[in-house]
Parts: sequence; structure tokens; C-alpha cells
Amino acid sequence: MSDPPRGPDIFADQPGDPDLLAAIYDLEHNEITDDLAFYRELARHADGPVLDLGCGSGRLLRALLDGGARRVVGVDGSTALLRRAQGRIEADDVLSDAARSGGLRLIAGDVRRPPVRGLFALALAVGVLPHLAGPEEALRMVAATASRLEAGGLLVIDDIGPAGLPWRDLPMSMDWERTLDGRRVVRRSGLTRHERPEGLWVDYATLTDAVRPDGTIARLPATFRLWYPSEDVLRHLLVEGGLVTETSYGSYDLEPFGRESERRIVIARRAA
Ligand SMILES: C[S@@+](CC[C@H](N)C(=O)[O-])C[C@H]1O[C@@H](n2cnc3c(N)ncnc32)[C@H](O)[C@@H]1O
Repeated sequence: MSDPPRGPDIFADQPGDPDLLAAIYDLEHNEITDDLAFYRELARHADGPVLDLGCGSGRLLRALLDGGARRVVGVDGSTALLRRAQGRIEADDVLSDAARSGGLRLIAGDVRRPPVRGLFALALAVGVLPHLAGPEEALRMVAATASRLEAGGLLVIDDIGPAGLPWRDLPMSMDWERTLDGRRVVRRSGLTRHERPEGLWVDYATLTDAVRPDGTIARLPATFRLWYPSEDVLRHLLVEGGLVTETSYGSYDLEPFGRESERRIVIARRAA
């Protein structure tokens, strides 16, 4: 099974305001910090330009620069998320100095054909693969990225491991309640699973209520079809894309990957 090809903007077909969806996305994603030291260290060892595929609102940019990356390029298909990444750059002296001196750049584009020039020592796809519509789409990203890697350069694919994936359908229920610019935001979500030979597909539906200052509620429904490739499919994708898998970790503490892993972090190298 493969879905029809999708556009690169995950918010394009959602009924709600993309900027509000992006702000709500950040409410959740900004809390993820357990991977920052891992990516800082990868950048430290990379010794060359870094490509952050699906950089979103730029959550990883500071860690990459702190690791010593002298050139970081972030590519994302969502202009609403890139606007937030730009805001993050303007609010952070290290990021804005790097942007001013040409060491940090954001580009609106599709990870399946990243619109970048030059070669990279390190490319990251953190949480991106599940948004692609199956093996063909994923192979486009892997092959296009491999062609933009220096000999010996690394591609890191990071998504959810077996122990973190849902094992049953979940009805719509409340996830959290937070505050956004003084407005109360309530998030509900539910999901339906579909197991297929190429991996697990998850239809993930969210319903977010944002209370306006006048007390009325903006209700934002959104749906995402996510794909978590099987081990075999991911292995083949990397081989077909021209990469050699070097290591797989099951956590940011470098535990080996296995059935109990919450994360699946695959590091693949372009052959010299
Ligand atoms: C779960 S988010 C991860 C963001 C970021 N890597 C992080 O770890 O914070 C997935 C990101 O991939 C981007 N994305 C998904 N499909 C894309 C595509 N075909 N082209 C460009 N960006 C894409 C989304 O816009 C989103 O920013």
C-alpha cells in the first residue's frame, strides 16, 4: 500500500489556519529536548555542512550550531513552520549571528528533492519519514539526500521505535491543556492503525480548541496519515538509496536498537 503522493506542506490540506496550527505544533514539539545533546554531538563529529531535512520550526538548529556546525541548512515544506523557525532565529543571538554570516539558512522545499546546493557531511531527517506516503516517496528522499552527501557523509533517520508505536486503535480523548499567548488550548486526539507488509500506517486525528479572548472557541480539526516502515523496508530503502547502514540506536543514550526501543535512530553512510 502507498498513498497518493502528497504535497510538502503538512498543513496545506487542513481546514484550520496554518499559523495557528504551527503555533500549536510548537506547544508540543518545543518540549522535546531529550535528543538535543545527541544531535549536538553528531554535529561536533561531522566536520562539514549539516542539512536538517524537515527542520520544522527549527528546534534542532541551536544544538547543531552549538556542536560546531559552521553551515546549517534547514529545509521544510510548511511555510507556517518556517515562519516560526525565522522567529526563533531572530530571538536567539547565536542563531541570528549565524544567519547574518551565512552559516544558517532556511529553505522552503520538499525533502524528496531538497533544493540545496553543495555537499553535506551530515543530513538529518528527524520525525520526517512518517509524513511521507510510503516506500516510493521515502526512497526519493533517501536517494536525493544521498546524492547531496560528501563521500563518507551521514544520513540520520530518526523516528519512533517498536515500543513507542501504538499497539491498538485509540478513540478520541484529551491529551493536554496548555496556554498559548494567554489563550487556553485543549488538544484531543485519536488514531486508527493499519498493519501492512511495508509497515504500520496510522490515521491520526487531532481536534484542538483554542479559546479566543472574547470567550469563543476556534476549533481546529487536523488529520495526518503517518507511516512507520518495517525494519526490512527501511533497510532496503537505504541500500537502494546508495547508503550503508552503520549503526541503529534505540535511544538518545545510544542503547542498541531492539524490539523494546522507544526510538529508531538509523545512521547510514554514503560509501567513500
Ligand atoms: C514531526 S516534524 C519534525 C520537525 C523537526 N525535524 C523536529 O524534530 O523538531 C516533521 C516535519 O517534516 C516536515 N515535512 C513533512 N513532509 C515534508 C516534505 N515532503 N517536504 C518538506 N518537509 C516535510 C513537516 O513540515 C514537519 O516540519
